[in-house]
Amino acid sequence: MPRHDLESFLESRKEIIELILEKALPRAMTEDYVNMLSGKPAYGYDTESLTMGISRPVWDFLSRGGKRWRPILFTLIVDALGGDRDRTRDYAALVELVHNGTIIIDDIEDGSEMRRGKESLHTLFGVDTAINAGNALYFIPLALFVNNKAGFSDDVLVRAYNIYSTEMINVHLGQALDISWHRGERSADAISEEQYIQMCAYKTGTLARMSAKLAAVLSGADDKTVNVLGRFAESVGVAFQIQDDILDIVTKGEDRERFGKPYGNDITEGKITLLVIKTLQRAPPEEAQTLLDTLSQHTREKEKLDAAIDIIERHGAIESAKEIADALVISSWEEARKVLPACEAKDMLKLFVHYLVERKE
Ligand code: IPE
Ligand code: IPE
Ligand code: MG
Ligand code: MG
Ligand code: MG
Repeated sequence: MPRHDLESFLESRKEIIELILEKALPRAMTEDYVNMLSGKPAYGYDTESLTMGISRPVWDFLSRGGKRWRPILFTLIVDALGGDRDRTRDYAALVELVHNGTIIIDDIEDGSEMRRGKESLHTLFGVDTAINAGNALYFIPLALFVNNKAGFSDDVLVRAYNIYSTEMINVHLGQALDISWHRGERSADAISEEQYIQMCAYKTGTLARMSAKLAAVLSGADDKTVNVLGRFAESVGVAFQIQDDILDIVTKGEDRERFGKPYGNDITEGKITLLVIKTLQRAPPEEAQTLLDTLSQHTREKEKLDAAIDIIERHGAIESAKEIADALVISSWEEARKVLPACEAKDMLKLFVHYLVERKE
């Protein structure tokens, strides 16, 4: 299939997802929606302030776009397993809401001032509003399990609920590792590739896995299928993160604006990526030390960022990281394809995950 066909397919899926998102979290709070979330309040409504505190900042963030790849993954798996599109539809929104919650909070944790080409949510609306809105996005999806059962049995909903809570814990394990490392609490050259990949599996693989597992459970799949697809999605998430880290290093000049984050962002953050780990293994001690020093300085000085990026690029870390990402997607697809029946959605899923990991922005 030509690339533009895949892209137009993805655009049409995104349009559907926008509608589901509005239903899952309206642009303005209504009394009905508040009732759905938490029951009729005992004393009184102030939907206007709830709009100001939650809907307005969250929709500012959602309206900036975003790739929406987690709900697209969800819907493709539902289609491939012959699940019921209408009944599962609202649950696709859930993974996108959680994802947006995690990046709102992540930008506070990482001190990032830009997201999707605009000021990050805490810079624009204040840390108090951003933390609360981000955290609300972790819990609002649970109301879907409880109050919008869409005819699923309690057994299915308990399985879905368990997936949700496990993956939410994993995200926080991943963030804990990433934060501890970029704070320099552990010497960067002591962090292994396996530890890095595990960190990515927790922080990024986990929401992909949540999407895949929820889609499979709600489509009536057996445990084996659920687990295989979960593992596949986790690998896609890890590969996606590796590619994200690569893009942060190689996206320069005019392209940087579209990337949505300032030049050298990960170096400024002091982030220990696979690229850094690979470079520390290969570079002569002097260059390795320069890289370590720059990472620990959390600098925005262009010359220092240029020098660090140059060291990473010269030692072939980008090519090696790319190979690892590609191998992860290829080997996990080998498992996933065995549990999926031959169908159009299966073919699309394969194209989609490759596209995702090869993305250029
Ligand atoms: C950003 O995720 C956080 C990472 C895991 C790298 P995405 O790159 O999917 O973010 P949006 O939703 O498309 O902006
Ligand atoms: C984001 O990780 C992962 C989660 C929000 C769970 P990063 O900090 O690596 O993502 P970016 O680079 O800011 O998008
Ligand atoms: Mg970040
Ligand atoms: Mg982070
Ligand atoms: Mg990044």
